This record gives sequence, structure tokens and C-alpha cells, in this order.
Amino acid sequence: MAIEQTFLMVKPDGVDRQVIGDIVDRFERRGFVLKGAKLMVASKELAEKHYAEHAERPFFGELVDFITSGPVFAMVWEGENVIKLARIMMGATKPEDSNPGTIRGDYATTLSHNVIHGSDSLASAEREIGLWFGSELV
Ligand code: TYD
Ligand code: MG
Repeated sequence: MAIEQTFLMVKPDGVDRQVIGDIVDRFERRGFVLKGAKLMVASKELAEKHYAEHAERPFFGELVDFITSGPVFAMVWEGENVIKLARIMMGATKPEDSNPGTIRGDYATTLSHNVIHGSDSLASAEREIGLWFGSELV
């Protein structure tokens, strides 16, 4: 398994709940390396590009409104199998399916307010890192 990078983002509800530190701590304890991070408010254009795969879904408008409603903490993490392992550490999308001990299982309140985003494949990781960080990474 090669070293991968993934894009993770604490959503506005997670920033509001002050769990950035806990989330960073979980990935550091798992042995992953933080390669980039920034607190920022995403533009509507960036949010729409980020969630382009959901553009035709009925919840798209609310999703874009929510993700641009306050600061997010955008991150790039590196490590072996980090794309898949980060998704496991995040827990399932739906709060009723996310196990205790996962980030969403510990903090998510509703389906839309589920605290964290993580890339779901190598292709989406590359696309999302480019979108959010461009050439900023060291
Ligand atoms: P999705 O990519 O399916 O989930 P994940 O974040 O686990 O990759 O959906 C993106 C986000 O959209 C999801 O985190 C929460 C929101 N969402 C809704 O608000 N309603 C829905 O019915 C779904 C499927 C997702
Ligand atoms: Mg997704």
C-alpha cells in the first residue's frame, strides 16, 4: 500500500462545537501526518464545486448553504491507506448508522450536520486537495 493523501474538513457545526482539536488529535494518534490546514469560510462557488457530484440531489441547495454558513477547518492528511481509514474513523454518513467511537458517532446531530467531510476515493482526494489547497502545500 502506497502512502496516500486525503482531504478532510471539519464542517461549520464541528467548528462551532469546538471539536477541531479532538479531531486533529485522533488522526495524529493514528499515526497520520498533517500536511496542510486552514480555517476559512468557503465561497458558494467552491462549495458547489466541492459537492458537484450531488448537484442534482434535492438536498444540494441546503448542503451548499450549510457548508458556507461559517468557518470550516480544511486539512490534508498523509499516511498509509489514509483515504479508507479516515472514512472508517469518521463513521457512517447517517447518524443512526455511525458507531460510537467514530467522529460522527460521537458528535453528529443530524444527517446534514455530521461534523466532518472526508474524500471517498483516490480520485476524489486528488480533486478535493487541488480544489481547496491548489499549490499551497509544502
Ligand atoms: P455523501 O457524499 O453521500 O456523504 P459523505 O459525507 O459521508 O461522503 O453526502 C454529502 C453530505 O451531504 C453528507 O455528509 C450530508 C449531506 N446529505 C444530506 O444532507 N442529505 C442526504 O440525504 C445525504 C445523502 C447527504
Ligand atoms: Mg461524499
